Amino acid sequence: METLLENQVVEKLNRLLINYQVHYQNLRLFHWNVKGPFFFILHEKFEELYNEAALKIDEVAERILALNGIPKGSLKNILSNANVESHEEIMDASAMVKAIINANKVLIENLEELLEEAGKAGDEGTLDIFTSYIQELQKQNWMMKSFLNN
Ligand SMILES: [Fe+2]
Repeated sequence: METLLENQVVEKLNRLLINYQVHYQNLRLFHWNVKGPFFFILHEKFEELYNEAALKIDEVAERILALNGIPKGSLKNILSNANVESHEEIMDASAMVKAIINANKVLIENLEELLEEAGKAGDEGTLDIFTSYIQELQKQNWMMKSFLNN
């Protein structure tokens, strides 16, 4: 039987999953459409980031299934529930990097709320998987900010 606390962990996982999927699509868009003097660097970096995001997305979804939940991935569900902004095709390269920093901040907040609920539920498995996600996103943001020189 699923307890109420486990349901709340699944809900937080789904919030993270929805935002990660928007972030993933933005990264693909940035990979395709980036222009300017840093094209070669950013085109490759964005590909690396969306490949990492794809692995994370799958891990989040499969954790939801392990907790007897249903992973949210319909486009309707994503568009009506995401906090990460869905970006336009044409953007400056620096605006793309800023958008990644902002999306990472949303994902970090989602993760902090998830870990809090998992802690309350005594869900060691979830804590074990997702604690490192926060560190990785913080490291990414340090690098993105260094790229922007601020
Ligand atoms: Fe490509």
